[in-house]
Amino acid sequence: MSESTLVLIKPDGVRRNLIGEIIRRCEAKGYVVAELKKITPTRELLAAHYAEHEGKVFYEPLMEFMLSGDVVAIRLTGHRVIEGFRSIAGATDPTVAAAGTIRGDLSRDWGTKVVQNLVHGSDSVESAQRELALWF
Ligand code: CMP
Repeated sequence: MSESTLVLIKPDGVRRNLIGEIIRRCEAKGYVVAELKKITPTRELLAAHYAEHEGKVFYEPLMEFMLSGDVVAIRLTGHRVIEGFRSIAGATDPTVAAAGTIRGDLSRDWGTKVVQNLVHGSDSVESAQRELALWF
């Protein structure tokens, strides 16, 4: 049975002109871009999206980073796409993300207060439903 996940291409990915490369990897894996939009997110939207991280040391840097430019939101679909996208995205920390993954191949630690790791992917069916409802 097909499922959907929310993929965000974060401002670093958009600034570095990696939208096409990231979507190419998703499509090459066999997932389908069902919906897609480029938006300038509001603080309200990001606060709702990242509610679970409120209070953490990286919360404000994360908000500033996500407000620093446009974001591409994608509803990506396919069998087990939630787990599968996280697999092709790689570990949160791009320094240790495996080669062959989006983060491992295309990003690194730039010495910023929050890790700039190109993409976000929902981590569960419940998160995917909640996040897709926020962004679409
Ligand atoms: P994302 O999947 O969008 O969810 C929360 C984001 O916060 C994460 O990707 C990273 O960009 C960032 N993040 C998570 N953990 C840390 C951390 N320990 N230090 C800095 N940034 C983090």
